[in-house]
Amino acid sequence: MSNFQANRYLVSFNTRTDLHQFTDVLIIGAGIAGIRAALEIPPELSVLVLNKDKLAESNSSYAQGGIAGVLSAEDRFENHIEDTHIAGAGLCDFDTVEMVVREAPSQISDLIRFGVKFDLENGELALTREGGHSHRRIVHALGDSTGHEVMRALLQKAKQSPNIVLQGETITIDFLTHEENCLGAIAWRKGVGRILIWAKAIILASGGCGMIYRETTNPPVATGDGMAAAWRAGAILQDMEFMQFHPTVLYVAGSSRSLISEAVRGEGGYLRDVNGVRFMLDADPRAELAPRDIVSRAIFKTMERTQHPNVYLDLSHLDPKLVLQRFPGIAKACSAFGIDITKDRIPVRPGAHYMIGGVHVDLRGHTNLPGLFAAGEVTSSGLHGANRLASNSLIEGLVYGTNCAREASNYALSNRQDFHAIPLKNQIHTPAESEILDVADLTNSLRSLMTRNMGIVRDRKRMLEAQRDVEFWSKYVLAREFQSRAGWELQNLLTVARLMIHAALTREESRGTHYRADFPETNDRNWKTHLRSPPRTDL
Ligand code: SIN
Repeated sequence: MSNFQANRYLVSFNTRTDLHQFTDVLIIGAGIAGIRAALEIPPELSVLVLNKDKLAESNSSYAQGGIAGVLSAEDRFENHIEDTHIAGAGLCDFDTVEMVVREAPSQISDLIRFGVKFDLENGELALTREGGHSHRRIVHALGDSTGHEVMRALLQKAKQSPNIVLQGETITIDFLTHEENCLGAIAWRKGVGRILIWAKAIILASGGCGMIYRETTNPPVATGDGMAAAWRAGAILQDMEFMQFHPTVLYVAGSSRSLISEAVRGEGGYLRDVNGVRFMLDADPRAELAPRDIVSRAIFKTMERTQHPNVYLDLSHLDPKLVLQRFPGIAKACSAFGIDITKDRIPVRPGAHYMIGGVHVDLRGHTNLPGLFAAGEVTSSGLHGANRLASNSLIEGLVYGTNCAREASNYALSNRQDFHAIPLKNQIHTPAESEILDVADLTNSLRSLMTRNMGIVRDRKRMLEAQRDVEFWSKYVLAREFQSRAGWELQNLLTVARLMIHAALTREESRGTHYRADFPETNDRNWKTHLRSPPRTDL
């Protein structure tokens, strides 16, 4: 299989016989970007929000650290802008950074208005620091469960809005397009089956693809469905080589790979190797608070040097009361494995955390497909450059969710008042020799391969090996029609993996999260640019 061949749609459908549903605005994804968008749409427009799992299950809900914004008298917008550019290693888009940073404080005020209870200190918003930030500017909630609290309040507000319908357990399989216009989506609802949903405007906010790696902080829903479906529909994707690895993921056999927030280092935690040495002091002048790409690589090298599968976070020199008050969730997750975070060292190693690449959007959230808007982790807005600054993602979801809701509303109100289903159909001819496929086994193999060959340190030889395997698997997986969520997710994971490996092989330099042992230098002359993914050709 070459030239990025893939079927246009993953499933057969027929507008004559399938079930239909109509809405003014369709939002795919119930994380922070999707729900913020829903709340911005005027009451005269009907809104349908789909989530493939339970409504509360999104990457946003698992965010620990917080939301960055210039909120203290000592801080300036210019500082936050500069920090974002430094972390982004020369690839951040100037207008995007400027817009998001300047809108952050008012977005945080809106959240408070929507009912989010951020942590306070002496009656003021408590602000913490994370890697790459020159000032304390991160608001947080419930200590280390910011995402949980933000999503609780946003979902509650959305549930009270008469024009918004929230629909869980409904996976979006593909976008319906005609002459490049996006007209709706093919979805599969538990207990109902396939539905064709037609909308005047569609907002994609389906999140990232961390599940493409074996070690990840992401929940199982993060399988890159939105990126893959948008690519099949003809949307432009870019920056797919930039997967951000979070430096500190709990590494205990038998535990889920829980995130250990960067705020732990922001509050003074140290990283030590197996011999107790604080190795970050030699790696970067900012030590534990260097940007994530630098800390993740230093951990990787330390694990190689010491031949030990992890490093350790040490909080034993900090006030135990403060530690327990700031990090109750982490304390609980660790105590389940007999680790007292006020005394014991926490075993950690890096894990896939945030996909920087995705569907290309402009400042207002337009994709290149009329009718399709996008916001949040599924996109590549240019905010994060080649390495996202900590706690800049929830704020991106809020700003872009708001922007694209306004654009989508105008589009829905003005452009296509007389919309209706149009005759479309698709028939997949699964090869006759198809055998039963062990989807879980293949998904695990893909995740292990990506962890081994497309991880923190990459080189051409190992990436070519990964490409060979992924292309081989794609040949028999992408050609067939599945009837299950796990099957469609595997097809989407493979699709995203192909685009990631292609981009990573193409970029022959090291920049931000993309580090190549065979091209260790940053090469601005040739590579200070975004890479667009190749388009699909028919199978
Ligand atoms: C963290 O708490 O370390 C995660 C914050 C982020 O990814 O922005």
